[in-house]
Amino acid sequence: MGWLSWERFKCQINCHHYDDTNHNNNNKLAGCISENLFTQIADTLVERGYQRAGYDRINIDDCWSKKSRELDDGHLLPDPDRFPNGIKYLADYMHERGLKLGMYQNYGHRTCMGYPGILGHLEQDVQTFADWDVDMIKLDACFSPKTSQLDSGYMKFRKIVDKTKRPMIISCSWPYYQVFASKVHIIPKWDLISMNCNLFRVFHDITSNWKVIQKIIDFMGDNQQIFRAITGPGSWPDPDMLMIGNVGLSVAQAESQMAIWCILPAPLFMSNDPRVMEPEFEKILLNSDAISINQDVNGEPGERFFHNTTMDLWRRSLSENQMALVILNRDFNQDLQISIPLEQIESNAFQHYQHVQVLNIFSNEKYQIRRQRMADNRTETYIKVIVEPTGCVFLKLTPLKN
Ligand code: GLA
Repeated sequence: MGWLSWERFKCQINCHHYDDTNHNNNNKLAGCISENLFTQIADTLVERGYQRAGYDRINIDDCWSKKSRELDDGHLLPDPDRFPNGIKYLADYMHERGLKLGMYQNYGHRTCMGYPGILGHLEQDVQTFADWDVDMIKLDACFSPKTSQLDSGYMKFRKIVDKTKRPMIISCSWPYYQVFASKVHIIPKWDLISMNCNLFRVFHDITSNWKVIQKIIDFMGDNQQIFRAITGPGSWPDPDMLMIGNVGLSVAQAESQMAIWCILPAPLFMSNDPRVMEPEFEKILLNSDAISINQDVNGEPGERFFHNTTMDLWRRSLSENQMALVILNRDFNQDLQISIPLEQIESNAFQHYQHVQVLNIFSNEKYQIRRQRMADNRTETYIKVIVEPTGCVFLKLTPLKN
Protein backbone atom coordinates (compact mmCIF):
# COMPACT_ATOMS: atom_id res chain seq x y z
CA MET A 1 0.00 0.00 0.00
CA GLY A 2 1.18 3.47 -0.69
CA TRP A 3 1.29 6.36 -3.10
CA LEU A 4 2.75 6.67 -6.58
CA SER A 5 3.38 9.89 -8.46
CA TRP A 6 2.54 8.80 -11.99
CA GLU A 7 -1.12 9.25 -12.86
CA ARG A 8 -1.62 12.43 -10.88
CA PHE A 9 1.67 14.23 -11.54
CA LYS A 10 2.84 12.48 -14.74
CA CYS A 11 6.02 14.07 -16.08
CA GLN A 12 5.38 17.56 -14.72
CA ILE A 13 8.94 18.81 -14.48
CA ASN A 14 8.37 22.54 -14.91
CA CYS A 15 8.31 23.46 -11.24
CA HIS A 16 7.64 27.08 -12.01
CA HIS A 17 4.47 26.34 -13.97
CA TYR A 18 3.29 23.68 -11.52
CA ASP A 19 4.39 25.59 -8.43
CA ASP A 20 2.95 24.08 -5.25
CA THR A 21 5.09 25.97 -2.77
CA ASN A 22 2.66 28.88 -2.99
CA HIS A 23 -0.35 27.79 -0.97
CA ASN A 24 -2.61 30.40 -2.51
CA ASN A 25 -2.02 28.85 -5.88
CA ASN A 26 -5.34 27.80 -7.36
CA ASN A 27 -3.76 25.65 -10.02
CA LYS A 28 -5.43 22.27 -9.45
CA LEU A 29 -2.49 20.56 -11.11
CA ALA A 30 0.10 22.16 -8.81
CA GLY A 31 3.03 19.90 -8.05
CA CYS A 32 6.06 18.85 -10.07
CA ILE A 33 8.26 15.75 -9.79
CA SER A 34 10.58 17.09 -7.11
CA GLU A 35 11.86 16.63 -3.58
CA ASN A 36 9.34 19.21 -2.44
CA LEU A 37 6.42 17.11 -3.76
CA PHE A 38 7.61 13.86 -2.17
CA THR A 39 8.36 15.38 1.23
CA GLN A 40 4.98 17.15 1.24
CA ILE A 41 3.17 13.95 0.30
CA ALA A 42 5.09 12.11 3.03
CA ASP A 43 4.08 14.70 5.63
CA THR A 44 0.46 14.53 4.48
CA LEU A 45 0.34 10.73 4.59
CA VAL A 46 1.54 10.87 8.17
CA GLU A 47 -0.62 13.80 9.30
CA ARG A 48 -3.87 12.64 7.68
CA GLY A 49 -3.59 9.06 8.98
CA TYR A 50 -2.82 7.34 5.67
CA GLN A 51 0.45 5.92 6.93
CA ARG A 52 -1.25 4.51 10.04
CA ALA A 53 -3.92 2.97 7.80
CA GLY A 54 -1.20 1.13 5.86
CA TYR A 55 -0.29 3.46 2.97
CA ASP A 56 3.38 3.53 3.86
CA ARG A 57 5.19 3.46 0.51
CA ILE A 58 5.95 6.58 -1.48
CA ASN A 59 7.08 5.79 -4.98
CA ILE A 60 8.78 8.13 -7.40
CA ASP A 61 7.80 7.28 -10.98
CA ASP A 62 9.28 8.40 -14.30
CA CYS A 63 11.08 11.74 -14.94
CA TRP A 64 13.15 11.91 -11.75
CA SER A 65 16.66 11.58 -13.19
CA LYS A 66 18.95 13.78 -15.21
CA LYS A 67 18.40 13.45 -18.96
CA SER A 68 21.67 11.59 -19.33
CA ARG A 69 24.00 9.47 -17.25
CA GLU A 70 27.19 10.84 -15.72
CA LEU A 71 30.06 10.89 -18.16
CA ASP A 72 32.69 9.33 -15.91
CA ASP A 73 31.21 5.93 -15.08
CA GLY A 74 27.66 6.20 -16.36
CA HIS A 75 25.90 6.27 -13.01
CA LEU A 76 22.43 7.77 -12.60
CA LEU A 77 21.73 10.96 -10.71
CA PRO A 78 18.47 12.75 -9.98
CA ASP A 79 17.77 16.11 -11.59
CA PRO A 80 19.79 18.49 -9.39
CA ASP A 81 17.30 21.37 -9.49
CA ARG A 82 14.30 19.29 -8.58
CA PHE A 83 16.09 16.94 -6.14
CA PRO A 84 18.76 19.22 -4.61
CA ASN A 85 19.56 16.81 -1.75
CA GLY A 86 19.57 13.60 -3.76
CA ILE A 87 17.57 10.41 -3.37
CA LYS A 88 19.29 9.04 -0.26
CA TYR A 89 18.07 12.15 1.55
CA LEU A 90 14.51 11.33 0.49
CA ALA A 91 14.87 7.69 1.57
CA ASP A 92 16.07 8.87 5.00
CA TYR A 93 13.21 11.37 5.14
CA MET A 94 10.73 8.53 4.55
CA HIS A 95 12.38 6.13 6.99
CA GLU A 96 12.37 8.71 9.77
CA ARG A 97 8.59 8.93 9.36
CA GLY A 98 7.87 5.20 9.17
CA LEU A 99 7.54 5.33 5.38
CA LYS A 100 9.40 3.61 2.55
CA LEU A 101 10.73 4.91 -0.74
CA GLY A 102 10.25 3.37 -4.17
CA MET A 103 12.05 4.22 -7.41
CA TYR A 104 11.27 3.78 -11.09
CA GLN A 105 13.44 2.36 -13.88
CA ASN A 106 12.76 0.81 -17.25
CA TYR A 107 14.00 -2.34 -18.99
CA GLY A 108 14.97 -0.55 -22.20
CA HIS A 109 17.51 2.05 -23.23
CA ARG A 110 15.10 4.85 -22.39
CA THR A 111 12.16 5.14 -19.99
CA CYS A 112 8.67 5.73 -21.40
CA MET A 113 9.26 9.48 -21.07
CA GLY A 114 12.76 9.37 -22.58
CA TYR A 115 15.01 9.32 -19.49
CA PRO A 116 17.98 6.94 -19.29
CA GLY A 117 16.80 3.30 -19.08
CA ILE A 118 18.44 0.39 -17.29
CA LEU A 119 19.76 -1.64 -20.26
CA GLY A 120 23.53 -1.82 -20.18
CA HIS A 121 23.52 -0.66 -16.54
CA LEU A 122 21.50 -3.34 -14.78
CA GLU A 123 23.93 -4.12 -11.96
CA GLN A 124 25.03 -0.53 -11.59
CA ASP A 125 21.54 0.98 -11.24
CA VAL A 126 20.26 -1.70 -8.89
CA GLN A 127 23.33 -1.19 -6.69
CA THR A 128 22.77 2.59 -6.83
CA PHE A 129 19.20 2.12 -5.60
CA ALA A 130 20.39 -0.20 -2.84
CA ASP A 131 23.09 2.32 -1.82
CA TRP A 132 20.41 5.01 -1.61
CA ASP A 133 18.42 2.73 0.77
CA VAL A 134 15.49 2.40 -1.60
CA ASP A 135 12.78 -0.12 -0.60
CA MET A 136 11.00 -0.86 -3.87
CA ILE A 137 11.73 -0.72 -7.59
CA LYS A 138 9.15 -0.49 -10.35
CA LEU A 139 10.75 -1.83 -13.52
CA ASP A 140 8.78 -0.74 -16.56
CA ALA A 141 9.53 -2.04 -20.08
CA CYS A 142 8.93 0.73 -22.63
CA PHE A 143 11.10 0.52 -25.75
CA SER A 144 12.40 -2.86 -24.77
CA PRO A 145 14.36 -3.96 -27.86
CA LYS A 146 12.95 -7.50 -27.84
CA THR A 147 9.90 -8.40 -25.81
CA SER A 148 11.03 -12.03 -26.11
CA GLN A 149 13.95 -11.11 -23.86
CA LEU A 150 11.73 -9.91 -21.05
CA ASP A 151 11.67 -13.36 -19.40
CA SER A 152 15.43 -13.54 -19.05
CA GLY A 153 15.77 -9.78 -18.43
CA TYR A 154 13.37 -9.60 -15.49
CA MET A 155 14.77 -12.83 -14.01
CA LYS A 156 18.27 -11.41 -14.17
CA PHE A 157 17.03 -8.20 -12.56
CA ARG A 158 15.52 -10.19 -9.68
CA LYS A 159 18.82 -12.01 -9.13
CA ILE A 160 20.75 -8.76 -9.05
CA VAL A 161 18.29 -7.22 -6.59
CA ASP A 162 18.69 -10.26 -4.33
CA LYS A 163 22.47 -10.03 -4.59
CA THR A 164 22.47 -6.52 -3.08
CA LYS A 165 21.06 -8.09 0.12
CA ARG A 166 18.81 -5.06 0.48
CA PRO A 167 15.17 -6.16 0.74
CA MET A 168 13.57 -4.29 -2.15
CA ILE A 169 10.19 -5.31 -3.45
CA ILE A 170 9.78 -5.49 -7.19
CA SER A 171 6.94 -4.21 -9.31
CA CYS A 172 7.15 -5.56 -12.87
CA SER A 173 5.43 -4.61 -16.09
CA TRP A 174 6.72 -7.80 -17.74
CA PRO A 175 3.39 -9.53 -18.62
CA TYR A 176 1.79 -6.28 -19.77
CA TYR A 177 4.42 -5.69 -22.44
CA GLN A 178 4.36 -9.34 -23.53
CA VAL A 179 0.62 -9.33 -24.08
CA PHE A 180 -0.02 -5.79 -25.30
CA ALA A 181 3.20 -4.28 -26.61
CA SER A 182 4.73 -7.16 -28.47
CA LYS A 183 4.41 -7.48 -32.26
CA VAL A 184 4.48 -11.26 -31.88
CA HIS A 185 1.93 -12.56 -29.43
CA ILE A 186 3.71 -13.90 -26.35
CA ILE A 187 1.90 -15.94 -23.72
CA PRO A 188 3.33 -14.85 -20.38
CA LYS A 189 5.01 -17.51 -18.26
CA TRP A 190 2.90 -16.70 -15.24
CA ASP A 191 4.73 -19.02 -12.86
CA LEU A 192 8.03 -17.25 -13.58
CA ILE A 193 6.45 -13.82 -13.27
CA SER A 194 4.81 -14.73 -10.00
CA MET A 195 8.09 -16.13 -8.62
CA ASN A 196 10.20 -13.13 -9.61
CA CYS A 197 7.90 -10.15 -9.01
CA ASN A 198 6.01 -9.08 -5.91
CA LEU A 199 3.45 -7.27 -8.02
CA PHE A 200 3.02 -7.14 -11.76
CA ARG A 201 1.03 -4.89 -14.08
CA VAL A 202 -1.32 -6.82 -16.31
CA PHE A 203 -3.27 -4.22 -18.30
CA HIS A 204 -3.12 -0.75 -19.86
CA ASP A 205 -2.54 2.40 -17.81
CA ILE A 206 -5.41 3.54 -15.66
CA THR A 207 -6.88 7.05 -15.88
CA SER A 208 -9.39 8.86 -13.74
CA ASN A 209 -12.35 7.80 -15.83
CA TRP A 210 -14.98 5.23 -14.89
CA LYS A 211 -15.14 3.66 -18.37
CA VAL A 212 -11.41 2.98 -18.24
CA ILE A 213 -11.69 1.55 -14.74
CA GLN A 214 -14.61 -0.66 -15.71
CA LYS A 215 -12.56 -2.04 -18.61
CA ILE A 216 -9.79 -2.93 -16.18
CA ILE A 217 -12.29 -4.62 -13.84
CA ASP A 218 -13.68 -6.59 -16.80
CA PHE A 219 -10.19 -7.65 -17.82
CA MET A 220 -9.46 -8.87 -14.30
CA GLY A 221 -12.75 -10.79 -14.24
CA ASP A 222 -12.43 -12.23 -17.74
CA ASN A 223 -8.93 -13.54 -16.95
CA GLN A 224 -9.55 -14.53 -13.36
CA GLN A 225 -8.67 -18.16 -13.93
CA ILE A 226 -5.10 -17.13 -14.72
CA PHE A 227 -4.86 -14.50 -12.01
CA ARG A 228 -6.51 -16.42 -9.18
CA ALA A 229 -3.97 -19.22 -9.56
CA ILE A 230 -1.05 -16.85 -8.91
CA THR A 231 -2.58 -14.41 -6.42
CA GLY A 232 -1.28 -14.72 -2.89
CA PRO A 233 1.34 -13.44 -0.47
CA GLY A 234 4.33 -12.15 -2.46
CA SER A 235 2.57 -12.34 -5.84
CA TRP A 236 -0.10 -9.79 -6.70
CA PRO A 237 -1.50 -9.08 -10.18
CA ASP A 238 -1.66 -5.28 -10.37
CA PRO A 239 -4.57 -3.57 -12.13
CA ASP A 240 -2.83 -0.19 -11.56
CA MET A 241 -3.31 2.76 -9.21
CA LEU A 242 -6.28 3.97 -7.17
CA MET A 243 -7.77 7.06 -8.82
CA ILE A 244 -9.88 7.98 -5.80
CA GLY A 245 -9.88 11.72 -5.11
CA ASN A 246 -9.01 12.80 -8.64
CA VAL A 247 -11.21 14.89 -10.88
CA GLY A 248 -13.27 12.55 -13.07
CA LEU A 249 -14.54 9.98 -10.56
CA SER A 250 -17.74 10.36 -8.56
CA VAL A 251 -17.99 9.19 -4.96
CA ALA A 252 -19.97 6.11 -6.08
CA GLN A 253 -17.32 5.26 -8.68
CA ALA A 254 -14.54 5.81 -6.17
CA GLU A 255 -16.27 3.37 -3.80
CA SER A 256 -16.57 0.87 -6.64
CA GLN A 257 -12.87 1.06 -7.42
CA MET A 258 -11.95 0.68 -3.75
CA ALA A 259 -14.30 -2.29 -3.30
CA ILE A 260 -13.04 -4.19 -6.34
CA TRP A 261 -9.38 -3.49 -5.52
CA CYS A 262 -10.02 -4.82 -2.01
CA ILE A 263 -11.81 -7.94 -3.12
CA LEU A 264 -9.40 -8.93 -5.93
CA PRO A 265 -7.22 -8.20 -3.87
CA ALA A 266 -4.97 -5.68 -5.63
CA PRO A 267 -2.08 -3.54 -4.39
CA LEU A 268 -3.47 -0.26 -3.02
CA PHE A 269 -1.26 2.45 -4.48
CA MET A 270 -3.04 5.78 -4.79
CA SER A 271 -2.05 8.37 -7.33
CA ASN A 272 -3.82 11.54 -6.25
CA ASP A 273 -3.11 14.67 -4.25
CA PRO A 274 -3.79 13.85 -0.60
CA ARG A 275 -2.86 17.47 0.30
CA VAL A 276 -6.09 18.73 -1.25
CA MET A 277 -8.36 15.71 -0.93
CA GLU A 278 -12.12 16.19 -0.47
CA PRO A 279 -13.24 14.52 2.79
CA GLU A 280 -15.65 12.08 1.12
CA PHE A 281 -12.80 10.59 -0.91
CA GLU A 282 -10.39 10.53 2.02
CA LYS A 283 -13.04 8.59 3.95
CA ILE A 284 -13.14 5.89 1.25
CA LEU A 285 -9.35 5.56 1.12
CA LEU A 286 -9.07 5.35 4.91
CA ASN A 287 -12.00 2.97 5.42
CA SER A 288 -10.48 0.47 7.83
CA ASP A 289 -13.00 -2.30 7.07
CA ALA A 290 -12.23 -2.07 3.36
CA ILE A 291 -8.49 -2.06 4.02
CA SER A 292 -8.72 -5.03 6.35
CA ILE A 293 -10.50 -7.00 3.60
CA ASN A 294 -7.75 -6.03 1.16
CA GLN A 295 -5.08 -7.09 3.63
CA ASP A 296 -6.79 -10.23 4.91
CA VAL A 297 -4.10 -12.58 6.19
CA ASN A 298 -5.33 -15.57 4.20
CA GLY A 299 -4.47 -13.77 0.96
CA GLU A 300 -7.18 -15.73 -0.88
CA PRO A 301 -8.07 -14.41 -4.32
CA GLY A 302 -11.50 -12.96 -4.93
CA GLU A 303 -13.80 -14.35 -7.59
CA ARG A 304 -16.26 -12.81 -10.03
CA PHE A 305 -19.12 -15.31 -9.84
CA PHE A 306 -21.70 -13.45 -11.87
CA HIS A 307 -21.29 -11.02 -14.75
CA ASN A 308 -23.64 -9.55 -17.29
CA THR A 309 -24.15 -6.15 -18.87
CA THR A 310 -25.84 -4.68 -15.81
CA MET A 311 -24.23 -6.35 -12.82
CA ASP A 312 -21.08 -7.97 -11.46
CA LEU A 313 -21.01 -10.08 -8.32
CA TRP A 314 -17.65 -10.64 -6.66
CA ARG A 315 -16.91 -12.61 -3.49
CA ARG A 316 -13.86 -13.44 -1.46
CA SER A 317 -13.30 -15.83 1.43
CA LEU A 318 -11.65 -14.16 4.39
CA SER A 319 -10.06 -15.47 7.54
CA GLU A 320 -12.31 -16.71 10.40
CA ASN A 321 -14.91 -17.98 7.91
CA GLN A 322 -15.89 -14.46 6.95
CA MET A 323 -16.72 -13.40 3.41
CA ALA A 324 -16.69 -10.21 1.41
CA LEU A 325 -19.18 -9.48 -1.32
CA VAL A 326 -19.34 -6.73 -3.93
CA ILE A 327 -22.49 -6.04 -5.92
CA LEU A 328 -21.47 -3.70 -8.73
CA ASN A 329 -24.05 -1.85 -10.79
CA ARG A 330 -22.55 -1.59 -14.27
CA ASP A 331 -25.35 0.53 -15.63
CA PHE A 332 -24.69 4.25 -16.09
CA ASN A 333 -28.28 5.41 -15.58
CA GLN A 334 -30.44 2.98 -13.65
CA ASP A 335 -30.46 1.90 -10.03
CA LEU A 336 -30.07 -1.82 -9.52
CA GLN A 337 -32.52 -3.49 -7.12
CA ILE A 338 -31.67 -7.05 -6.32
CA SER A 339 -32.21 -9.88 -3.86
CA ILE A 340 -29.40 -12.40 -3.87
CA PRO A 341 -29.95 -15.78 -2.22
CA LEU A 342 -27.38 -16.40 0.53
CA GLU A 343 -26.78 -19.82 -1.00
CA GLN A 344 -25.48 -18.25 -4.17
CA ILE A 345 -22.85 -16.31 -2.28
CA GLU A 346 -21.62 -18.43 0.54
CA SER A 347 -18.71 -20.78 0.92
CA ASN A 348 -19.15 -24.27 2.37
CA ALA A 349 -17.83 -23.28 5.77
CA PHE A 350 -20.57 -20.72 6.00
CA GLN A 351 -23.48 -23.06 5.54
CA HIS A 352 -23.35 -24.43 9.09
CA TYR A 353 -24.25 -21.11 10.60
CA GLN A 354 -27.76 -20.05 11.39
CA HIS A 355 -27.11 -16.33 11.81
CA VAL A 356 -24.99 -14.05 9.71
CA GLN A 357 -23.97 -10.52 10.47
CA VAL A 358 -23.90 -8.21 7.48
CA LEU A 359 -21.74 -5.09 7.53
CA ASN A 360 -22.16 -2.52 4.78
CA ILE A 361 -18.58 -1.29 4.46
CA PHE A 362 -19.27 2.20 3.15
CA SER A 363 -22.51 3.09 4.98
CA ASN A 364 -21.31 1.34 8.14
CA GLU A 365 -24.77 -0.13 8.60
CA LYS A 366 -24.87 -3.49 10.41
CA TYR A 367 -27.67 -6.03 10.57
CA GLN A 368 -28.26 -9.72 11.12
CA ILE A 369 -29.94 -12.21 8.89
CA ARG A 370 -31.31 -15.55 9.99
CA ARG A 371 -31.15 -18.56 7.76
CA GLN A 372 -34.61 -19.82 6.85
CA ARG A 373 -34.49 -23.51 6.00
CA MET A 374 -37.13 -24.94 3.73
CA ALA A 375 -38.48 -28.48 3.88
CA ASP A 376 -35.98 -29.69 1.27
CA ASN A 377 -33.14 -28.10 3.34
CA ARG A 378 -32.55 -25.29 0.85
CA THR A 379 -31.96 -21.87 2.33
CA GLU A 380 -34.55 -19.23 1.73
CA THR A 381 -32.58 -16.17 2.82
CA TYR A 382 -31.75 -13.20 0.71
CA ILE A 383 -29.46 -10.22 0.74
CA LYS A 384 -31.46 -7.30 -0.60
CA VAL A 385 -29.78 -4.19 -1.92
CA ILE A 386 -30.32 -1.12 -4.05
CA VAL A 387 -27.20 0.00 -5.89
CA GLU A 388 -26.79 3.34 -7.62
CA PRO A 389 -25.53 3.59 -11.23
CA THR A 390 -21.78 2.75 -11.52
CA GLY A 391 -21.75 2.31 -7.74
CA CYS A 392 -21.55 -0.76 -5.59
CA VAL A 393 -22.62 -2.27 -2.31
CA PHE A 394 -19.65 -3.73 -0.48
CA LEU A 395 -20.50 -6.13 2.34
CA LYS A 396 -18.65 -8.18 4.90
CA LEU A 397 -20.49 -11.28 6.08
CA THR A 398 -19.58 -12.72 9.46
CA PRO A 399 -21.12 -16.00 10.64
CA LEU A 400 -22.33 -15.78 14.22
CA LYS A 401 -22.09 -18.54 16.80
CA ASN A 402 -25.62 -19.97 17.16
C1 GLA B 1 4.10 3.46 -18.34
C2 GLA B 1 3.57 2.85 -17.04
C3 GLA B 1 3.02 3.95 -16.15
C4 GLA B 1 4.10 4.97 -15.87
C5 GLA B 1 4.64 5.53 -17.17
C6 GLA B 1 5.85 6.42 -16.94
O1 GLA B 1 3.08 4.00 -19.12
O2 GLA B 1 2.60 1.89 -17.31
O3 GLA B 1 2.55 3.38 -14.94
O4 GLA B 1 5.13 4.39 -15.10
O5 GLA B 1 5.05 4.48 -18.04
O6 GLA B 1 6.37 6.95 -18.09
